[in-house]
Amino acid sequence: MENQPSFYNSEKEFEPLEETSFYRKVQTSVLQQINKYKPSEILQFGVGIGYTTYKIGLDYKIIGVDIDNEAIKYARQNYSNNNIKYIQKDMQEYVKNTIKSDFILLMYSFHHIPDNKEGEDKHYNKKVFLQELYKNTKDDVIICISETFLQENTSIEEQAKKRVEEASFSVIDYNLDKHSLKDSMQKAELAKQREKEAWEYVKQREKEYLITLQWLINTSLDIGFSIYVEKLNDIGEYTIILKK
Ligand SMILES: C[S@@+](CC[C@H](N)C(=O)[O-])C[C@H]1O[C@@H](n2cnc3c(N)ncnc32)[C@H](O)[C@@H]1O
Repeated sequence: MENQPSFYNSEKEFEPLEETSFYRKVQTSVLQQINKYKPSEILQFGVGIGYTTYKIGLDYKIIGVDIDNEAIKYARQNYSNNNIKYIQKDMQEYVKNTIKSDFILLMYSFHHIPDNKEGEDKHYNKKVFLQELYKNTKDDVIICISETFLQENTSIEEQAKKRVEEASFSVIDYNLDKHSLKDSMQKAELAKQREKEAWEYVKQREKEYLITLQWLINTSLDIGFSIYVEKLNDIGEYTIILKK
């Protein structure tokens, strides 16, 4: 995608992110939700290179959608099996049609729905996306949004700093059992750079890129969803379950 950090398009670049405590926490939480509801078909929006999609696809049928052609190509080549079907499409378009899947997953991808830069209803496109989901899904659908939210009462710089530190420490920790200190520190440095790059991108988008948890709660309730919130850590990650 235009201007998007490159690290979602190759496993080598992506690897250190998987080793951050926050990515693992989000992934574990998502897998727990899936195992709780045991859906017969999952639809995942914004699959990236398919790393988590592949894990899910070991046990469940899953359709993985991403707008980025390179990411989908990579996922098809490296993270495929018979349970998984990858589709290159904009999720904003995808939701306009009837969706039969009984579990819809957005993992670190909801915030990518572009916002209007100005005006009162600055998260208009995200709201429309949720409205379409409400309208075009089955009555008993489960929608799982697991991701980073803008922390209220914390500056974006502070939140970014905490996450970059967390990325670094957790990757060293994760690797030390298996690799030398030097190798672990190199991986941690890469993770730190990736996280910094991601937050530079967030800042470029004038803070409208991420949303607050409060915005998602209010908007989902307005649309008619029930909402369940699981807090994952102190650096802004939550898993949200929406039901009709
Ligand atoms: C941060 S990555 C998350 C990747 C994956 N879910 C994970 O957690 O490993 C976000 C992904 O959303 C995709 N994306 C962004 N806008 C999209 C859109 N409108 N429709 C579909 N995918 C989109 C990007 O191409 C990117 O691969």
